[in-house]
Amino acid sequence: MLTKPENPVVNERDSSTLLTRAAELAARYVNSASERAVAPKETAVAALQRFHEPFPDSGCDPEKVLAFLDELGSPATVATTGGRYFGFVNGGTLPTSLAANWLAGAWDQNAALRVMSPVAAELEEIAIRWVCEALGLPPDSAGGLVTGATMANFTSLAAARSALLAREGWNVVEDGLFHAPPIEVVAGVEVHASLLKALSLLGLGRKRLNLVEVDEQGRMRADKLPKLSRNTIVCIQAGNVNTGAFDPASQICEAAHQQGAWVHVDGAFGLWAGVSPQYRHLLNGFEKADSWATDAHKWPNVSYDCGVAIVRDAEALRTCMELSSAAYLTPGAKREPMYYTPECSRRARAVELWAALKSLGRPGMAELVERTCAHARRFAAGLRAAGCRVLNDVVINQVLVSFGDSSKTQDVIRSVQEEGTCWCGGTVWQGKTAMRISVSSWATTDDDVDRSLEAILRAARIIEAASN
Ligand SMILES: Cc1ncc(COP(=O)(O)O)c(C=O)c1O
Repeated sequence: MLTKPENPVVNERDSSTLLTRAAELAARYVNSASERAVAPKETAVAALQRFHEPFPDSGCDPEKVLAFLDELGSPATVATTGGRYFGFVNGGTLPTSLAANWLAGAWDQNAALRVMSPVAAELEEIAIRWVCEALGLPPDSAGGLVTGATMANFTSLAAARSALLAREGWNVVEDGLFHAPPIEVVAGVEVHASLLKALSLLGLGRKRLNLVEVDEQGRMRADKLPKLSRNTIVCIQAGNVNTGAFDPASQICEAAHQQGAWVHVDGAFGLWAGVSPQYRHLLNGFEKADSWATDAHKWPNVSYDCGVAIVRDAEALRTCMELSSAAYLTPGAKREPMYYTPECSRRARAVELWAALKSLGRPGMAELVERTCAHARRFAAGLRAAGCRVLNDVVINQVLVSFGDSSKTQDVIRSVQEEGTCWCGGTVWQGKTAMRISVSSWATTDDDVDRSLEAILRAARIIEAASN
């Protein structure tokens, strides 16, 4: 008879003590995230050196491992889950999503095939349908859950590439791209860098891209579109990463479809504005596209990582993500998750996505979008009132602000990050250095905005005084 080894890692009693302790430490972290400095202290970052040691010759008690992780790891995190992190477009994590993430972690499901995890397969199907419903996308589209918008762009563009070439009688899955009919890719000058990466991974090449002029908000100029054809993929944006601006989708889709071109939408965060009756008009026309990429870990505040690729032509996505024969991996009769994504084995990220959508529902998601946009307007109003220059039309949750010349603006950004009340990053917008404020967390309150405004304006005053 097999006996349980005396290894603490596999001892059941210890594992429930361990899990309870992990939950205590996690709750303590969550509760303190809003009060601590947003960026980690230099001493905390320096202490990470203590992780460096040769591969251990002996094991370590799991509780000690956890304690060590908390002692060194927790202080060296950036408090993105508190209410005053405004960097990049990083969402926080909704309590429901975090809790679902813990349960899913305990389940440890492989979401590749339905037979490996019926629950993961079912929730994925439901979550993708709900995303289509929430965003007003065609209900019979196919979709897949991937790590983020970069991979969602990759996945959708792979489907576009296969479908356009199939129309030309070329099977890219079987024959690759060598000697294939050429595909033209068109995007605005303000295309997100990650989309260029996706194109290069797909063999479509960053340099082959035909870049179209944009206006002062970064919107692609529909009147400047080049000649399109049935071999063109046009990439448009719902939500510019700096300004939050939306490309004129209706005009572009109409022009593209007249020529038989494929339109892909990078809507990493902006697509979610469509759940709000107040902001839905910004998404007019985006539903006419052929594929969409978005992130659930940004505006919807689903735990990292969770990107969503949606393709109108379900068969196009399935054809290029299908696995060639492997006797032990036969698909069942129903939708198989791995037939819609580049990966086979992967975590069951649908669990958190489903939980977030279920708990918020349409009104909760709309409120999250509207509240974060209102916070962005509050920032912009406070900055303007203090004499700062807001560089963008604040259409959704993004604010760009300049504090004078490039070096002053950079100094303010550095000083704000070091001071720790809040965290904002920098950018260069159409030649001007700017601070980016992206309000993407459910946890941000009016008080967080006011405290952050005070900290930013204090830093700006000090830098201004020092420069005189
Ligand atoms: C418009 C846009 N596309 C793509 C991405 C890449 O997203 P991810 O980092 O989730 O892959 C971002 C990230 O901010 C973005 O804003």
